Parts: sequence; C-alpha cells; structure tokens
Amino acid sequence: MAILKIARLGNPVLIRPADAIADPGHPEVRRLARDMVETMLDAPGVGLAAPQVHASLRLIVFHVPAPRVEAEAEPPPEGVTVLVNPTIEPLGDETVMGWEGCLSIPDLRGAVPRHRTIRYRGVDLEGQAIDRTVSGFHARVVQHEVDHLDGILYLSRMTDLSLLAFNDEWMRFMSERQP
Ligand code: NI
Repeated sequence: MAILKIARLGNPVLIRPADAIADPGHPEVRRLARDMVETMLDAPGVGLAAPQVHASLRLIVFHVPAPRVEAEAEPPPEGVTVLVNPTIEPLGDETVMGWEGCLSIPDLRGAVPRHRTIRYRGVDLEGQAIDRTVSGFHARVVQHEVDHLDGILYLSRMTDLSLLAFNDEWMRFMSERQP
C-alpha cells in the first residue's frame, strides 16, 4: 500500500486521453487500484482517476458518502467502487449545476453542469460487469472521474467562471447558494 503523488493542473498527464486496460485482473492494475483508494481516502476525496496519479489508464475509484445522497436518489453502492474501462450514457436531456472540486486543482471549487441521470458501465478487478443507472451526486462523481480519462478537467465544463472560488472564500460567501 502506498499513498501516491497527485498530478496537479498543468501536468500534461491530466490532458491526455488514457489507455484502455487489457487485463483488469493484472497484479499491477490491482496494486494501482489499491494505492488509488488509499490515496483518495487520505486526501480526502470522493473520487480519483488513474491519470491523476500519473498512470494514463482507464481506471477510476470513487465512493458516495451518505450525506451527499439526494433524497430522491437510489441508495449508493457500499464502500468504494473500482471501475475499469468505464463508459457513460446520459439518460435524458436534464442537466444540473453542482459544486465540484478536484484533487488536481487544490483549493478551488466551481459550479459545473452535469447530466442528472446516467447509465455507466465497466468491469471490476475480477472482470465482473458493473452496470448502474444513477442520478444526482453519484452521477456527478462518475462524470467528473470519467472526464479525467479523456483528459478533461471540470474547469473546461464550467459555463460561468464567476462561479469559481477558493474554498475558504466559497465557505464565506457561496456555500449557501444553489449554483
Ligand atoms: Ni478531479
């Protein structure tokens, strides 16, 4: 187990499309996934994509903390999800604005439009299929992390840069506001 160094904004690994993983059960992939989970929980963060730890591979880890689950949303998965080669299919046209941060863009937070509901698919480290239809915060986290695999950071998804703030100023002035 190891806590990995997180690449920050400006590192080219963050804007490069990541490669598909041929063998999800490969020991190196398992070790990377374990270290990513440890790194994410230590940070702390709710999600982490492999390019953020300098591995240009299509692997993400995330969890959905209970307080972040919206009242109408489906119950979140237990614990941390490790997802290899994920794909996303938006369901419906509805988008919602919500606040996001990123471990690769420390101290900042911004409002980002995302699809409210998505279906996402991939495999776990045993090669077992994961196929979930989710909405709200869960859908937002997965969209943010899968974007990392395509070299896209949340800043590029923002439609109103006046809704970008340092975390401490956000706490003072914006935390009560619905973006
Ligand atoms: Ni991020």
